[in-house]
Amino acid sequence: MQSVNTIAELRAILGAWRRAGDRIAFVPTMGNLHAGHLSLVDAARQRAERVVVSIFVNPTQFGVGEDFQTYPRTEADDRDKLLAAGVDLLFLPTVPEMYPPTATTFVSVAGLSELHCGAFRPGHFNGVATVVTKLFNIVQPDTAFFGLKDYQQFVIIRTLVRDLNMPVELVPVATVREANGLAMSSRNGYLSAEEKTIAAQLYQSLRTARDALLSGGMSTAEIESQAQSFLSAAGFITDYFSICRSTDLAAAAPEDREIVILAAVRLGKTRLIDNICFSK
Ligand code: PAJ
Repeated sequence: MQSVNTIAELRAILGAWRRAGDRIAFVPTMGNLHAGHLSLVDAARQRAERVVVSIFVNPTQFGVGEDFQTYPRTEADDRDKLLAAGVDLLFLPTVPEMYPPTATTFVSVAGLSELHCGAFRPGHFNGVATVVTKLFNIVQPDTAFFGLKDYQQFVIIRTLVRDLNMPVELVPVATVREANGLAMSSRNGYLSAEEKTIAAQLYQSLRTARDALLSGGMSTAEIESQAQSFLSAAGFITDYFSICRSTDLAAAAPEDREIVILAAVRLGKTRLIDNICFSK
């Protein structure tokens, strides 16, 4: 596995691969890699001759008072995992490499970026859209892999790629979970052992809400409010619990068939997100 810190070095390697006719698959990450990230790498491995992974804790997607400074940085472990997973090239840019002081352009996907997580983390998705656009321009991958764990992020990136005519095929990858149902996340490391057990109830609340919607008889508002009561009794503070259309993340109407239930909660100091996606 080669490893580079600069855009120039990365482009030199990628140029040679492209000239040899190799397809390039790309997995952007912020590091502290777990089995969820590695499932994206496995999917990428199956789709292209060359797999590129980036690790960049992107400052522009963290708000004031969020965990940019304390976000877990575990480069040595991450390297070992990527090497074992058969990654060809690891891109580890510095902040000035990605955001030189002269940079003034930002990318924003209007509307979608203000919903759900966007309402609680102002500017977050502009940071994501900007860094993903930059990474796509730097790597110019044929395919790029994103987890459905971050469902709203995936829908925003899909919109970005469509609206800006980016020549990249996006591949969504299913959420990898712990045995108790907790979605794997770099932020799970902030949880105490006791909180980890409680945290599994977030997915339980999503499954219960899905089952209630599928059996009929309750309105979406009733199901959402029942879920919020369940979550608060379990010890969470709920940012949102919303039954949505999976296409555009607007509130689901009774006739909508493709559904995603999106949830974000806080448990102690940790913010957790999860979702469940299904057809009615
Ligand atoms: P990060 O949180 O490191 O996640 C990198 C990728 O791994 C994302 O596509 C995310 O959805 C996926 N992922 C995380 N947990 C997962 C799980 N349990 N199962 C499956 N996939 C999972 O998301 C980001 O970084 C950043 O916003 C980024 C896109 C890199 C832009 O900075």
